[in-house]
Amino acid sequence: MQLQDILFSQGFGTRRVCAGLVQQGHVRVNGEPVDDAAAEFEADGDLVFTVQGQDWSYHPKAYLMLNKPAGTECSQKPSAYPSIYTLLPAPLRQRPQKGGTTGVQAIGRLDQDTTGMLLLTDDGPFIHRMNSPRHHVPKVYEVGTRHPVDARQVERLLAGVVLDDDPRPVRAAACEATGECALRLTLTEGKYHQVKRMVAAVGNRVETLHRSRIGGLALPPDLAPGQWRWLTQDEMAALRDPS
Ligand code: URA
Repeated sequence: MQLQDILFSQGFGTRRVCAGLVQQGHVRVNGEPVDDAAAEFEADGDLVFTVQGQDWSYHPKAYLMLNKPAGTECSQKPSAYPSIYTLLPAPLRQRPQKGGTTGVQAIGRLDQDTTGMLLLTDDGPFIHRMNSPRHHVPKVYEVGTRHPVDARQVERLLAGVVLDDDPRPVRAAACEATGECALRLTLTEGKYHQVKRMVAAVGNRVETLHRSRIGGLALPPDLAPGQWRWLTQDEMAALRDPS
């Protein structure tokens, strides 16, 4: 694949901009400077390149995790808080996709005050699979509550509570008290404000909410709030197989 096309596919701008970056000496491939925009390289995961001093590796599709900080919105057009997308470098927001859309998208949304694990990708079918209720991908939430948690509340969350938009009860796949005012709740659906509404339905109130796990993948302790990184092959496998 030509270097200008590789850079274009990875979100560095139009083909013309990418050709210019190469011709002006801003690009190195596997450590070597390259100034021929039409130079051919094998576009695979081993290709490492540097654009304007920043190291990148080639990814045919982007799969990322972000530790979402509080006070950010999972929207491209946020209304009150900064968008989570501002936490990502421009190429990840600009990667071209079929159908004219650009960049990675969050897989599901977290509220502005919720922290923790968020996955992002430009793989549309993968987003669909992860969000589909049929696939029952478990998501684990660490909940801080206003009032002490009691055994009855845990029982009711496990048995199922009725929310105002659907007569069918929604239940936690797992639920345990982890402190006087703390719960760990596992959900396999993703209804609007689901944790907050379920906890309210049993007479308590969410004060803090943090997503610690999706499928078999836990938020790594060394990924600080606001930081992102590429998912590894092992992490992708863990997402598919939560066991
Ligand atoms: N449930 C909520 O209420 N909020 C979130 O951000 C995620 C799940």
